[in-house]
Amino acid sequence: MQTISEREYQSRRERLGKKLKQNSLALVCAAKPKIRSNDTEYPYRQNSNFYYLCGIEEPSSALLFIKKGKKCRVVLFVKEKDATFELWNGKVTGVKKACKRYKVDEVCAISKLQSRIEKEMREINRLYYEFADTSDETAILRKMGSNVYAHANLSKMIFKMRLYKTPAEIELIRQGMQITKKAHHHAMRMCKSGKKEYELQAEFEYIFTKNGAYSDAYTTIVAGGDNANTLHYIKNDKELHAEDLVLIDAGCEYNYYATDITRTIPVGGSFSSAQKEIYALVLHVEKEIIAMVKPGILRSKLQEHAERMLCEGMVRLGILRGSVDKLLKKRKHKKYFPHGIGHYMGLDVHDPCPYKTKKGKEIPLQAGMVLTIEPGLYLPKNDHSIPKKYRGIGIRIEDDILVTKEGYENLSKEILKELEDIESLYEGCSS
Ligand code: GLY
Ligand code: MN
Ligand code: MN
Repeated sequence: MQTISEREYQSRRERLGKKLKQNSLALVCAAKPKIRSNDTEYPYRQNSNFYYLCGIEEPSSALLFIKKGKKCRVVLFVKEKDATFELWNGKVTGVKKACKRYKVDEVCAISKLQSRIEKEMREINRLYYEFADTSDETAILRKMGSNVYAHANLSKMIFKMRLYKTPAEIELIRQGMQITKKAHHHAMRMCKSGKKEYELQAEFEYIFTKNGAYSDAYTTIVAGGDNANTLHYIKNDKELHAEDLVLIDAGCEYNYYATDITRTIPVGGSFSSAQKEIYALVLHVEKEIIAMVKPGILRSKLQEHAERMLCEGMVRLGILRGSVDKLLKKRKHKKYFPHGIGHYMGLDVHDPCPYKTKKGKEIPLQAGMVLTIEPGLYLPKNDHSIPKKYRGIGIRIEDDILVTKEGYENLSKEILKELEDIESLYEGCSS
């Protein structure tokens, strides 16, 4: 299994160290375990920014950057060995092993974090901080009182670094994509009228887990028929009907890297002619927009072009009436394509990397960025302005695209999306 090397984590820490102002501290903390109810917790998920800098999965850890002049030391804080804790929760790395494993300048027990910050702040009065949660760390800041020059823009510095994926990161996305592909194809074969949406959701979870994916990268959406017109439908509790489509937006998280794929398939195995018309339009737009991806292009251009093509298509099909330019100007198409054309993806499914510079200028796509392309049309059942045959159809098609020097690579190109390919998958299916 490919992972990120300690050398790569070290170089990320060095790069962050260079970005910090001279004579400053920067604190990046692990995520806190989150209570689900009473004394049960959600499965633990590390803070992406912390993970990006060290690949450590344990809670109760932190990185402290101490920059004096131009020199930056990195101190890693980890949980001390504790037999009772480990009896219940499993082994922790501990200070001694962490010293050997991680290329940092110093390793300390997490219990020393507060006193260490207090000590360093006697000399240095600028503290950058980044933590996914409040509680202990905010207590640290409060204690520092007026000494703290807390700069939340530490997160932004790390988000900026996360914008360009390294070959090792891309390899992890590729590996995750193999699992997501397997799951989508499996679900296409298992899809059947009379099943509940959650049964298909369970097929995804089964394939993800069976193949060693950490979890889903976001809650799986399985939206039959008109449910697809609720963009983030996650109830997944309705029955699937033969005459409907089902929109499935699902991707695993593999070694902390997300995949984010939507396919819309016919429950009964074949598309009706009205469904085909909408599907063909969305698929055409998706392919055209993907083909536009290359270094230098603006995401807003992709958005604009997708909106125009979808608007033209809707006029052609009688969903919208009037001149395309006027409809676009009045934003009439947004009613049926209300979301963005795509987003960055990486350690988070919606990777929070910057879309604009500090001065508000849009950042063009560059080699190494990964983004989704996901046009959709959502035609609600109760919208009487739409021709009857299209009502209740909701379609999104979503792929994950790597920007390359030459243009792009569709990382999810193996996941079927052509009408005929999807239909023939059912024909090959025994149940
Ligand atoms: N799965 C969430 C999204 O497509 O943005
Ligand atoms: Mn997406
Ligand atoms: Mn999605």
